[in-house]
Amino acid sequence: MKNNVLKVEGLEYSYQNASGTQKVLKGIDAEFEAGKMYAIVGESGSGKTTFLSLISALDKIQEGDIRYNGKSVRKIGGSEFRLKYVNIVFQSYNLIKYMTARENVQVAIDFDKRKVSPDKYLAQVGLTEEEGGRLVNKLSGGQQQRVAIARAIASNSPIIVADEPTGNLDEDTEEKIIEIFRELAHKEDKIVIIVTHSKRVAEHADEVLRLRRGVLS
Ligand SMILES: Nc1ncnc2c1ncn2[C@@H]1O[C@H](COP(=O)(O)OP(=O)(O)O)[C@@H](O)[C@H]1O
Ligand SMILES: [Mg+2]
Repeated sequence: MKNNVLKVEGLEYSYQNASGTQKVLKGIDAEFEAGKMYAIVGESGSGKTTFLSLISALDKIQEGDIRYNGKSVRKIGGSEFRLKYVNIVFQSYNLIKYMTARENVQVAIDFDKRKVSPDKYLAQVGLTEEEGGRLVNKLSGGQQQRVAIARAIASNSPIIVADEPTGNLDEDTEEKIIEIFRELAHKEDKIVIIVTHSKRVAEHADEVLRLRRGVLS
């Protein structure tokens, strides 16, 4: 059994809306391996965020299964799985607003009880020491997005999941971020899964998967 592989089997997911049941995912099968960067593309509303929420155990599986190294996430338990194995870069950043950029990254480092400097990660995403010392809500959208990425790479989890991580970034910064994600996959042997609308991100991915009519192919 390989030791960093995420397998999705017959995954289905529905929302209950005012107008009834909306089935968003209609049976997804996929396998994500260590050492690869995956891009997931698809139209707005096709279920990309829903899929990410399930593979990062933010939402409960309704039908089908997700296995990490052969063991069902249902068995591992959602919170255990999330804490130990997954790091998420949210579309909405989810930073702690009353902390500085540096403190946000420090939280992730502390969690793994490691002794490294948050500045290393802030520098990697192109933030200066001065920006690192600012409260998050004194940073621009693009800078906040980079703090969110720095936080994800500072934590040591084997799976990194990102929802439109370069949506608010200029081209140069986007290139830099793509390079970071590629290195996390290729040099640190992580599973990197990125939902994106960016052609450039997709071009640099090892595999591009498209979500369409509830199916991933
Ligand atoms: N919490 C929710 N309750 C009801 N419907 C939802 C909810 N979240 C998403 N949806 C619906 O599910 C579909 C897929 O949404 P989403 O996964 O966010 O797509 P994407 O990320 O590809 O834009 C959309 O039609 C959306 O309106
Ligand atoms: Mg989305």
